[in-house]
Amino acid sequence: MTIPSFVIGIAGGTGAGKTTVARLITENVGDSVTRIPVDNYYKDLSHLPIEERETVNYDHPSAFEWSLLRTQLENLLEGRSIEMPEYDFTAHNRKSDRTIVEPTDVIVLEGIFALYDEKVTEMLDLRLYVETDADVRILRRIQRDVIDRGRKLEGVMQQYLDTVKPMHEQFIEPTKSHADLIIPEGANSVAVNLLEEKIRTEVEGNSSRNWERDSIENELTGTL
Ligand code: C5P
Repeated sequence: MTIPSFVIGIAGGTGAGKTTVARLITENVGDSVTRIPVDNYYKDLSHLPIEERETVNYDHPSAFEWSLLRTQLENLLEGRSIEMPEYDFTAHNRKSDRTIVEPTDVIVLEGIFALYDEKVTEMLDLRLYVETDADVRILRRIQRDVIDRGRKLEGVMQQYLDTVKPMHEQFIEPTKSHADLIIPEGANSVAVNLLEEKIRTEVEGNSSRNWERDSIENELTGTL
């Protein structure tokens, strides 16, 4: 059984490059990393028609099912697998299938609200906030929403002005104060290398701790 040793939260505005940072700092840790996108915990809105789901403010904390995220993180931290929900951005809803996620040495919780909820933030060993200029973020967002998510440019612009930008300023940016480290986006190889080293050290320590615990358990069951 693996008890995760290191839980990392990566927050930052939409289009900040959170996923890239997550990938870079964990790419040499191999199978020992599990990525939990906070987006997967958007509330299930199956009871609403699509036209209503399209108008929801997805940048407000109330759009998320925090209790489920807390419980599932707690379970992973205690070495239990979870049935993680998945999100469909095209349908503006949770998918019907869930994914079984086993605990691994390193857990990366990633999303605009990764450093928002107090209980969730307490469970994190390292809190990162990726800081990227708003103009770069909106350009990336337009590209992603129009090309990958099949949305109309006018709609993306309207949503940005109506909810994404004001909610960023009101709720997301302030979570920077919960961060241990603020990572300027871009070629910040010094920060990335330091974090990568730190994570690798944690994983190596944890693998031997898990191995020792398993051997003791095996010995005990052998003598019973
Ligand atoms: O990947 P990223 O951090 O950008 O994901 C968060 C963004 O997804 C939020 O800013 C929110 O506006 C957007 N979103 C959306 N439609 C949904 C759910 C989330 O545009 N149905």
